[in-house]
Amino acid sequence: MRAGDGSAGDANYGVIGPGYARFRRPDPRIATFVHRALGGAETVLNVGAGAGSYEPTDRRVTAVEPSAAMRAQRPPHLPAAVDAVAENLPFPDDAFDAAMATFTIHQWPDLGKGLAEVRRVTRGPIALLTCDPDQLDRFWLHAYAPEAIAVEASRYPAMDRIARALGGKLDTHRVPIPLDCADGFNEAYYGRPEMLLDPAARRACLAWSFVDAAAVARFESKFGRDLVGGIWDRDYGFLRSQPVFEGSLVLVVGTAK
Ligand SMILES: C[S@@+](CC[C@H](N)C(=O)[O-])C[C@H]1O[C@@H](n2cnc3c(N)ncnc32)[C@H](O)[C@@H]1O
Repeated sequence: MRAGDGSAGDANYGVIGPGYARFRRPDPRIATFVHRALGGAETVLNVGAGAGSYEPTDRRVTAVEPSAAMRAQRPPHLPAAVDAVAENLPFPDDAFDAAMATFTIHQWPDLGKGLAEVRRVTRGPIALLTCDPDQLDRFWLHAYAPEAIAVEASRYPAMDRIARALGGKLDTHRVPIPLDCADGFNEAYYGRPEMLLDPAARRACLAWSFVDAAAVARFESKFGRDLVGGIWDRDYGFLRSQPVFEGSLVLVVGTAK
């Protein structure tokens, strides 16, 4: 089922996509993890490519992105994206040296079919940047917005589900999140908590779009009060200067066939 602008996941990027690239810029330190995992690949498939975050520019990339609003946000130096979905990739078997998918597999309606398709068209490594749902409670946000964390926990596939879907040998690396992370996902604000009071920053983290208005209002009120009153700083203020945070962000790498 594809929504208005072609969106194929559980979110309609025709509505939420236009401001996405303002907050969700690739972080170079996280990019290093993804690019290293691609090994010596010359041809790379990027599935759920969005506005092109984390796409290497020193290899031949084929980007796949179903949402027109997201395709329109790709910068001119990146190749135009193919309008297709992970579950039905319009490429022959073994067409690419490597593949990548960042912050997207949790949105695919059929994870098993999508990952089987990525495996079918890829000879070498497959790098998936995603969140481990079992590690989400490492982040203080669960104390303030348990509803948002619960949404994330229900959307991100468990590591063993990914392993079953991808088959073969998997390596999982925890990815440290830098304090000044350029990519505005929730955990990226671990030491800059005020950012989560900005509704536009929250809109770029899709979990919030599944949280009802009353819960968001409760979060804004309690969290806002604790920030102004110094309660957040008393409990978590050390994070304001902690250089990295190890939260739920992981890179799962399926090795070559
Ligand atoms: C959170 S964005 C991530 C975009 C980009 N990879 C990044 O790291 O910024 C998720 C993307 O996955 C795409 N997507 C959702 N369902 C998909 C599917 N079934 N097949 C391919 N892409 C899908 C969405 O349209 C959206 O652009």
